[in-house]
Amino acid sequence: MDAGTGAAPDLSPTTVTQLASSDDPRELQRTLREQPVHRVGDLFNLVTRREDVEEALRDRTGTFSWSAVGMNLGNIRPLIPLQIDPPQHVKYRRILDPLFAPKKMALLEDEVIALVKELVDTFAVSGSCDFHEEFAVPLPCRVFLRLMGLPLDDLDLFLSVKDDIIRPPGVTLDEQAPYRERAGKTVYEYFERHLAERKDHPTDDMLAQIIAGEVDGERLSDEEVMDICYLFIIAGLDTVTDSLDCIFAYLAQNPDHRRQLVADESIIPSAVEELLRWESPVPAVPRVATEDIEISGCPIKAGEQVMLVLGSANTDDAAHAGADEVDLRRNPNPHLAFGGGVHRCLGSHLARVELRVAIREFHRRIPEYELAPGTVLEYTTGLRSLHHLPLAFPAGA
Ligand code: HEM
Repeated sequence: MDAGTGAAPDLSPTTVTQLASSDDPRELQRTLREQPVHRVGDLFNLVTRREDVEEALRDRTGTFSWSAVGMNLGNIRPLIPLQIDPPQHVKYRRILDPLFAPKKMALLEDEVIALVKELVDTFAVSGSCDFHEEFAVPLPCRVFLRLMGLPLDDLDLFLSVKDDIIRPPGVTLDEQAPYRERAGKTVYEYFERHLAERKDHPTDDMLAQIIAGEVDGERLSDEEVMDICYLFIIAGLDTVTDSLDCIFAYLAQNPDHRRQLVADESIIPSAVEELLRWESPVPAVPRVATEDIEISGCPIKAGEQVMLVLGSANTDDAAHAGADEVDLRRNPNPHLAFGGGVHRCLGSHLARVELRVAIREFHRRIPEYELAPGTVLEYTTGLRSLHHLPLAFPAGA
């Protein structure tokens, strides 16, 4: 974060929402990168360039804090590990990282294949589907319930609490707060019940492994286990839905790239990384500055919030040559769609299994599709997702 350019220019909150909701946010990202930092009223500072975003993510000096962000998602205690700053943060990642390691997640592949096929079966012969409703929403939730050893019958309950926490009805935070509180209460009661049951009837799923997790001979308390599970619902369900929506909307509108994937499945892993870079379904992540600092010469005072714009960092030529082009074979691809530094996504390897399997199995069954005639895509604000994604394809697939 070098010296130099002085006070940050002002930007309206409406422009910021377009980072997620615009049909094509790349143009806006390019314009925003002309300045390293923008002030958004008294709310926060937007950090736009790859170098600055990466430096803040990888901060190890305590200059940027998550716990100070003060984001309430219906939780009554900090979400673990996201809302915990180092050094306490590392204790939780030591328990959780091995459970989400690539080799462990690869073992889930057969189950994910079965779940994907089951969902595709429900609409393949009909010639159309709302990909968002019928595939992108249920898949990650079903995978999560399987992984945690929770009843599949609880799917609707999970989907409704997740929505009430992430996208509650209402416009202002005050209007939304009661929905989040109610959903939060449901989540705590749900896991309290399941933790009690596990004590009488031990299992060998991921929930059991978290309960049994130890660091330096110390087990997690029931409250800590619940605070981890709460975060999983927020961090692990919607993000995969968002990514599926963004990726399939892209492929529906870019048949050459879609056919490239269908013709050569070996490029699916690099295509997933590239489309995550291109779409950045989590467009930005927050931090609070704990001391007076400068970012590329723009002063930020202690206590001010910054939003690190992963989307504009991901399309910054400084890190990705030809960043304006989608290259499904791009390798290496050091994108920041999963964040970076200590809070780097815990579930990235799980997400990768879900996305790769979904792309492969869906296209084996339905290689040719397009947006249903008359579709106008409407992207959501906050996390980049779609309200609906109607697809049309040859009936009888
Ligand atoms: C493609 C899908 C996903 C994307 C794009 C994504 C993105 C991210 C990003 C950007 C962060 C960093 C947040 C920050 O720095 O403030 C993060 C953190 C996290 N993600 Fe993911 N995520 C995905 C899937 C998942 C899944 C499936 C899980 C399952 C458990 C998960 C669990 C978490 C957790 C627990 C954290 C917090 C890590 C920490 O604070 O140490 N994510 N994710």
